[in-house]
Parts: sequence; C-alpha cells; structure tokens
Amino acid sequence: MAETGASSYYLTTPIYYVNGLPHLGTAYTTIVSDALARFERMDGRDTWFLTGLDEHGQKVAQAAQAAGVTPQEWVDGIAPQFVDAWQALDISNDDFIRTTEQRHVQGVQRFFEEMRANGYIYQDTYEGFYCLPDETFFTDEQLAEFAESAAAEGRPHAAEDGAKLCPDCGRPLSFIQEDNLFFRLSAFQDRLLAYYEENPDFICPPIRRNEVVSFVKGGLKDLSVSRTAFDWGVPIPFAPGHVSYVWVDALINYITAVGYGSDDPAKQAEFARRWPCQVHFVGKDIIRFHCVIWPAMLMAAGIEPPRKVFAHGFLLTKGEKMSKSRGNATSPLELARIFSVDGYRYYFLTDVQLGADGAISLERMVQVYNADLANSWGNLCSRAFNMTSKYTGGVVPDLWEKTVTALTRERGNPLAELAEGLYERYARAMNAIDYSGALAAVMELCDRANLYVEESAPWNLAKAAAAEAGGADAADRLAFVLYNLLESIRIMALCFAPVMPASSAEVFRRLGLGEVSCVDDLEGALRWGGLPAGNRVTVGEPLFPRLKEDEL
Ligand code: MSP
Repeated sequence: MAETGASSYYLTTPIYYVNGLPHLGTAYTTIVSDALARFERMDGRDTWFLTGLDEHGQKVAQAAQAAGVTPQEWVDGIAPQFVDAWQALDISNDDFIRTTEQRHVQGVQRFFEEMRANGYIYQDTYEGFYCLPDETFFTDEQLAEFAESAAAEGRPHAAEDGAKLCPDCGRPLSFIQEDNLFFRLSAFQDRLLAYYEENPDFICPPIRRNEVVSFVKGGLKDLSVSRTAFDWGVPIPFAPGHVSYVWVDALINYITAVGYGSDDPAKQAEFARRWPCQVHFVGKDIIRFHCVIWPAMLMAAGIEPPRKVFAHGFLLTKGEKMSKSRGNATSPLELARIFSVDGYRYYFLTDVQLGADGAISLERMVQVYNADLANSWGNLCSRAFNMTSKYTGGVVPDLWEKTVTALTRERGNPLAELAEGLYERYARAMNAIDYSGALAAVMELCDRANLYVEESAPWNLAKAAAAEAGGADAADRLAFVLYNLLESIRIMALCFAPVMPASSAEVFRRLGLGEVSCVDDLEGALRWGGLPAGNRVTVGEPLFPRLKEDEL
C-alpha cells in the first residue's frame, strides 16, 4: 500500500456533470460537505476540501454537439457557473478540479498503467445495455431483476416501442457492442467484504452499508472501463483508440487533485500527506461507484481505500408548490436571495435529516427560517445588542471577578452552565455528521438565552439602577445579565459558523471580535468568558428579517 499520512482531514463532494447547471441537489451535497470542512478547520484539523467537475463522457460530447460547440468550449462555458454558484453559497473549497485539466489526465493515465501492470486490465468485447444520462452499464441480471420487481409493482420496465428502461432513472437504455478494456472487479469481492467488515464506519449511514454488502455478496462482474465509440475522454496510453469510461476517469479525481500521478516531488508528498481521504460525501444514487468500484480500483493500483463514504438521501420537492408560486424558486441562488445564503444553508442542514430522503417545501422553509432564525437567534442578537447600546453605552460590561462570583452564587448563571458542556455535545454530533443534532444543541442555548432575557428583565434592572436607592446593586446585576447574554451570543456564533458563516462573521464584528473563520481551537474558543469587557458592540440591521410567505 502507498505511504499515507494521518494528520490531514481531506473531504470531497462528487464532481458534478457539466451537462446542466448547479441545482438544489448538487448544492445540497456541496453545502453538506462545506459545513463539515468548516467545522474541521475550526476544530483545528489540517483540512482540505475538494469539489469540481466531471467534464468527459458521451453525454457531455452530445450536449456540446447539440449546442454546436466543441466539448472543450462547452465545458469551459459551464465551469465558471459552478464556480460562481459555489462562491455565492459561501462554499469554502480549497481546490476545484476539472477532469479536463492536465494534472488529472496524467494521473488517470498513470492509474490505468498501474492497474494493468498489476494484472487487473484485459481486453474483451462488451455487449450490453448502457444508460447514457447516468453513464452506467447494466448487466442482464440487473435488468432481469428490475423487470421482475417493476412487474410486481406495476411499473413499466420497457418503453412502448419495447426499449428497455434504466432501473435507476427510468429513461431508455442504449445497446452497445464494443471492443473494450475490462477491469477485473470480480477479483475483489472477498477483499471488499473484508474491508467493510474491518471498517464498520466505511459506509454511512448503516442502511447504505447493508445495501452495498448484500450487493457485493451477490457477486461482482468485471467492469468495462474504456470506450471506443467516441473520443471525449482520457486516452488510455496502452490502448490506442480507447478513452477511459467516464466514471473511472471521474473517481480518480479524488487522488489526482491531491498530487497522485505528478512528477513533482512536492505534489507526491502532498498525496502521501492527504490520502486516504476522510470522507467522500455522495448522494445515495452513486453509492456503488464509491463503495464498490472505487475501493476495488484503488486496491488494484496498490493504494489505500478512503476512510468513509457518507451517502445522503434525495431532496424531494413537492415540486409544483415551489415552482408554482415562483417559477424559478427551485434554483439555489433564487432561494438564497429569499432566505439569505445562511438561511438557505441552515434549512437544508437542520430540517433535512442527513442520510434520509427529505421533502422540502417553500412553506416549511419559511416556517423554519422565521421560528429559528428570525424569532429566536436573530431576535436574541437584536435585543442583546440594543440593550447594550441603551444601558451600557454600547460597551461590553466590565465587572469585578468578586462581583460575578457573588451574583452567580445569588442567582446562578444558567447560560454559563448550559454553555459549559456545549462543545462536547456539539462536537460529538458534528463528528458523527449529525448536523441536526449539533444545531439542536446550539438552539437549546439560544432558547435558554431568550428565556433568560424575560426572567432577568434587564429593563427593570435599568430602571432600578437609574433610581437612587439600590442603584449600584442593580447596575451590577444589569451588567452581569448583559455580559451573560453577549457571551452566549459569541459562543453560539462560533457553533453556527460552519453552517451560517456570513451571519456568524457579522455577529463577531458586532461584538468587536476578529474573524470567526480564523478560529482553529474551537474548544478553547468556546470556553466561557472569552468575550473581552470593554469591546464596542454595534447594533446593526436585523440579521434575519422576518419573512411573510405570501410576500415572497
Ligand atoms: N459526475 C457524477 C459524480 C462523479 S463523482 C466521482 C454525478 N454527477 S451529478 O452531477 O449527477 O451529481 C450527482 C450528485 O448530486 C448526487 O450524488 C447527489 O450528491 C446530488 N444530487 C443530485 N440530485 C439530487 C437530489 N434530488 N437530491 C439530493 N441530491 C442529489 O453523479
């Protein structure tokens, strides 16, 4: 096995097809990955986050032809739209790979040579069915199984003209017959099963693991890994006229992006440090490619498989509702315009249970946004900043340690108590890639802080402080309450930052603090008392103005 490094935290999204533009589904995978990348950086790991584009294959060649441009012109026209969309959604990727780049092409060629040298590539004739939209081969057994289950469920498995349909997407399959190169996938059945067994967390969530294990137990067929019918792909050095099957080309991006196949020693060292990858985030539709074919390919080339593949579910738009009310409301940028980028990210990461399918709707987005962000988190910030401006001249109050101790003894400090165990609860959930759980832990503090405002009624303390008698005591109490609120807000902004980077950065600015994205010791930063007294607090506009659904 290749030498590998453990210090790095490397995570990836799938590389997206360029036959279309970024949409809710691809944006979802990208946001899911971004939240973890941001958390890992803040939690002190040497993080590397990769996304990119899958630019080869017959489908792209056809899209280009239909548009009357060369494939390269076509992909060059689409790529900036992905780059811009991810930038607009605050995606913090460290690299962006395109499979037409030379660094990738060279790596794919080397990978093929490696697999061939190890005896895993041979030439044969492929005869069978292929789904062009999915760029996927189907065996006769798979199609027979599909026909049987479709018949049992009363669904069509063939078109009216008799053409067989794709078991995954339901579109007509093409029949292809070609002299192709094959990868001996069948040789890896036992090794894959052993790998799943030894690495129980390799495939997450467990339902996907079971699905993959039973698929592999059912037996693996060798895979056709080259095409000769067209030339829009990576040429295979030892087989003139063959280009790589697009999925094999695409999967290899995960290693070429971090230096595999490079002649530059610095890049080779980078590969040794970054690989194996900690998490490949994918949708459940492409789990077999990532959990079966990819680890087998790596084993064939003598490289360690990745540590984890995490498959999320599908977003199910009760479509008409979203699009009926607003023609284009299903585009990520349109939703981000309505809900703000952070509101958009928050909804998808908190309301859709990661790993399961999630029905999404505009109504529900408005509900979650208003309840959690406008009324709870945003409102808490507004109130605390306004009261600080009004009652302590916009300055974070300063109190003697002795006074704080006395006041804590007298009344307790529920916010400090709740914040105490927050890192543990939050980080445990984030490490388990359970965003809903992590955000719920933060919202618990937020709800408690809103209640604390009511319980401690700073406006009454301010009145008492202004009155002659008992003023000093009330002024201390007021300062104590305001400090506790502002400090809780600082802590929450830190925890929200991986999911809502822009508003957390803004809260930090309003608290007179530095860049939240520069934090690299989250546990230390979350320790109670980190907000310096004397900082100037800015009130600013509402962070999350309330939305009315009928005005959208
Ligand atoms: N190019 C391949 C991936 C190669 S990775 C080596 C591909 N591209 S894709 O553009 O089709 O993007 C697929 C990914 O987009 C899915 O795995 C999933 O992550 C995401 N989604 C696309 N539609 C989706 C939904 N409706 N819901 C959630 N995510 C889905 O496959």
